[in-house]
Amino acid sequence: MNFRDVSKVHFGGDDVSLYGTPKEELGPGQLCVGGSGAQPGGAEPKPSFLKNQLQALFQPTDNKLAMKLFGSKKALMKERIRQKAAGHWIIHPCSNFRFYWDLCMLFLLVANLIILPVAISFFNDDLSTRWIAFNCLSDTIFLIDIVVNFRTGIMQQDNSEQVILDPKLIAKHYLKTWFFLDLISSVPLDYIFLIFNQDFSESFQILHAGRALRILRLAKLLSLVRLLRLSRLVRYVSQWEEVYFLNMASVFMRIFNLISMMLLIGHWSGCLQFLVPMLQGFPSNSWVAINELQKSHWLEQYSWAFFKAMSHMLCIGYGRFPPQNLTDLWLTMISMISGATCYALFIGHATNLIQSLDSSRRQYRERLKQVEEYMAYRKLPRELRTRITEYFEHRYQGKFFDEEMILGELSEKLREDVINYNCRSLVASVPFFANADPGFVSEVVTKLKYEVFLPGDIIIKEGTIGNKMFFIQEGIVDIVMSNGEVATSLSDGSYFGEICLLTNARRTASVRAETYCNLFSLSVEHFNTVLDSYPLMRRTMESVAAERLNKIGKNPSIVSNREDLTNDCKTVNAIVNALASVAATEQCDGGTSSEESMMTHDAHGHKSRHHHHHNLLDLGSIGKALAKGHLPRPKSENNFALSLDQPSPLNRNRPSFHKSDTFHKDTSFQ
Ligand code: CMP
Repeated sequence: MNFRDVSKVHFGGDDVSLYGTPKEELGPGQLCVGGSGAQPGGAEPKPSFLKNQLQALFQPTDNKLAMKLFGSKKALMKERIRQKAAGHWIIHPCSNFRFYWDLCMLFLLVANLIILPVAISFFNDDLSTRWIAFNCLSDTIFLIDIVVNFRTGIMQQDNSEQVILDPKLIAKHYLKTWFFLDLISSVPLDYIFLIFNQDFSESFQILHAGRALRILRLAKLLSLVRLLRLSRLVRYVSQWEEVYFLNMASVFMRIFNLISMMLLIGHWSGCLQFLVPMLQGFPSNSWVAINELQKSHWLEQYSWAFFKAMSHMLCIGYGRFPPQNLTDLWLTMISMISGATCYALFIGHATNLIQSLDSSRRQYRERLKQVEEYMAYRKLPRELRTRITEYFEHRYQGKFFDEEMILGELSEKLREDVINYNCRSLVASVPFFANADPGFVSEVVTKLKYEVFLPGDIIIKEGTIGNKMFFIQEGIVDIVMSNGEVATSLSDGSYFGEICLLTNARRTASVRAETYCNLFSLSVEHFNTVLDSYPLMRRTMESVAAERLNKIGKNPSIVSNREDLTNDCKTVNAIVNALASVAATEQCDGGTSSEESMMTHDAHGHKSRHHHHHNLLDLGSIGKALAKGHLPRPKSENNFALSLDQPSPLNRNRPSFHKSDTFHKDTSFQ
């Protein structure tokens, strides 16, 4: 932010030195202020003020298009200087002037493309002043548009960084591309004919009345060339689309464009349906004569013609009657072909839009369909199929996301934020996290993998080699001993599978999902990396593990193969007690002696020796946590202790929870 401001100021300075007056560098918005400031001084003569105003209008401003092209304000400033250097009266494509000019042209084009065919077909012999005024005005504006195009810089498709500002190059480019089409559609052809016709008819007024009428008609018909302005409309609209409707709106915009285009083509086709029979003088088998519309009001004629055209276009019918003569037949065919093409495009786009609206649900359905087909192909038993379908429903809940890919596309910081947010309920419910160092939590959480188990699934099998541990977000698991007895149950906020990772031995018990379980797993590699940098968390885990092992009748000392666990526990307990008492008496800085005792103890362990700093930090928080009455412990183990007195609906039909698994403050570390 600061940097940008500084660089902006720097550029301002540059401009002053380059162009003498700082006023020249002011943007169009600011220029009004600058201009009015200059006027009372009387130093600026009026024409120069106007010129300045206009030139400011021609400069690139910080609108959406400019920001897309140049990326930053600094680059925009640079572009302004470049534009100045290119000479006066060059309009930048990102300027305010061009924006409003395009907007006006857009309205005028639409008006032209709608009104012209109606005027030509239904008011053919009418040469009212309205028609002349309208044509005169629009022709003039379109001619001015050509001039403006000659002075407007060109954005290149391939190298959009550089806008062509050299007038010669612009002219060359324009002459090579759209100039002739624009010119033909803007030449006031009918006036040329009209002037010619006036001279002509004055002398042969009575004799050649019929001929004059025909020439008049021809002149009018020639103004059909103006419909070539459609190319301009398409160009302007697509340019706007690219800049202003990039995201979701773009699909709607495309559909909107398509519908408008269909209506416009229907409108033209309707006018054509009427124009051709009219030029033929309404033969008796033409549709106009059959419908007896020759003398009707133009609105009625138009309505029938439009109805006929739309019926063809949507391939619904022929209007009121099918075509009776060859001309009608061909006209019908033309409008059918053009309409059907548009219609096909429209259906394609609309389907695309609807599909893209709910892509995750569609992907889910596709995956499920594939799984179902696979199950049938492999002839899986019915029960297994039900379980697989259930798993799918529970795991993805109707929407499928490639989460790894989505997160992989984010920046590292964003990814971490998203993961932390997604795991917030887990962190809140796992006391082991709730009281731990935020750095530790963040490090663990970013490495977790979401997994779902169904009731009855064996999550961990006793005696196997373990490569991950689990945190329970939601659900209940049973710890089953080798004799089949359920030692205890763990629920939301607890963790299991850690003993194996701590000891590098085999799984000490089996773990079975009792309900649907939403778990997060942590692989052994990540487990070790994280716990290596947070040794106290390892200690906490080890103490819980020892307790758990004790409970299922195994030797608790296997969790710590590098030092004497009982000794360790006692020391930690002493420190914790000391810290707790310190925190309880609210003398927050009384940790020196405990730090010392920790260090003397740590001298035994080579791993923790490298991490004194972490130890001390963590100890402080643990001490405070203790003083408040909670220690980083699997919550469920505490919860179940409470729920023993008041059986909750969850454990009504369940084996009793073993008391020894619950937390007893006075015995846990001894
Ligand atoms: P691990 O040995 O890796 O695999 C089985 C897991 O069951 C074990 O880790 C512990 O996390 C868990 N476990 C074993 N005994 C108990 C117990 N008494 N209370 C709670 N969890 C236990």
